[in-house]
Amino acid sequence: MKLLVTGVTGRVGRNFARSMIASGHDVRGLVLPDDPGHDGAIEDGVDVLVGNLRDPESASAAVAGVDKIMHLGAMMLWGSESMNPTLMDDNIRGTFNLVHAASEAKIDRIVFASSDEVYPSLLAKYLPIDESHPREPYSFYGLTKVAGEEILQYYYRANGLPIAIARFALVYEPWESVSPKGTLGGFLFYDGAMRFVRSRAGDAFADSLAPAGESAPDLLLPRDESGTPWMFHCVDVRDIVQGLTLLLERPEAVGQAFNLSGPAPFSYGEVIPYLAEKAGLTYLDATIPAQPIRIHHSIAKARALLGYDPQHDVFRSIQDGLAATTT
Ligand SMILES: NC(=O)c1ccc[n+]([C@@H]2O[C@H](COP(=O)([O-])OP(=O)(O)OC[C@H]3O[C@@H](n4cnc5c(N)ncnc54)[C@H](O)[C@@H]3O)[C@@H](O)[C@H]2O)c1
Repeated sequence: MKLLVTGVTGRVGRNFARSMIASGHDVRGLVLPDDPGHDGAIEDGVDVLVGNLRDPESASAAVAGVDKIMHLGAMMLWGSESMNPTLMDDNIRGTFNLVHAASEAKIDRIVFASSDEVYPSLLAKYLPIDESHPREPYSFYGLTKVAGEEILQYYYRANGLPIAIARFALVYEPWESVSPKGTLGGFLFYDGAMRFVRSRAGDAFADSLAPAGESAPDLLLPRDESGTPWMFHCVDVRDIVQGLTLLLERPEAVGQAFNLSGPAPFSYGEVIPYLAEKAGLTYLDATIPAQPIRIHHSIAKARALLGYDPQHDVFRSIQDGLAATTT
């Protein structure tokens, strides 16, 4: 099979492309001009095409002659309103350009990387969040994913383009579970976790946890006022690769959206002491007088229709992440 992967130099794209190439498929990757991952993609065996999804001609050139498309290219930006025009151009216009070109080229399948940001995860109406939960994003990034999903669904409905949608939870490579610089580490290590405490419980409370002059602990174990630790659900990139492969291959995936998350949510009350012990780190166990973080996705639909079977819970990722950083 000849496959186009957009976002091939990113966290997910790199791992997915390597897996597809190892299985004997030809992978073309669309790579932005000046992308530092350009040479690494070539070393991985990707047929690199330099271009930008914002440009319709790049999109048409990228889809020419491919059987299927894995659309992972996007900007992940939060916060300032000034980022919204970038998100509009790369994520919404970029997805339109690619899907339109895919429809003209009559490709066999296009899979789109959406996100759990389409849901109001911190204000969920019920848990676990399944695919029927209202899509009511609170970030402009999440809005671009809703728009991308709608563009795909339109081309499926009106033009018969075979589409599938994956809504990822937070994705991490194993090293990112054991480093403050990693996507998951940003939720476990003290400075990253304090961003959430600060936004939920206010500056005065956050400052009182680590008085000036005292050295901060490495990790944070936040609890709500009844003593229940916060809960989080995320996914190891190796499981995302498994899920995306199923969405690309299984006929049951066509026209459908699937949550792709890890085997189960985790409690900070288990993971923080575990990581502290394994990595020799300190942690602060703190009661946070604010609405707790509780994120839990249902992956029952992907399990039932596709046979998705994620293998890497967060403890396994931490073990693998520590093994990789100490060798
Ligand atoms: N990482 C997560 O936690 C997470 C969670 C939910 C959804 N997603 C989605 O999954 C996909 C992959 O995520 P990732 O973690 O690998 O992201 P990443 O930031 O590591 O990689 C994004 C890739 O998209 C490319 N890209 C951005 N704009 C482009 C454009 N205009 N034209 C061509 N390429 C462009 C970048 O160069 C990069 O290769 C993205 O669509 C992201 O929105 C990621």
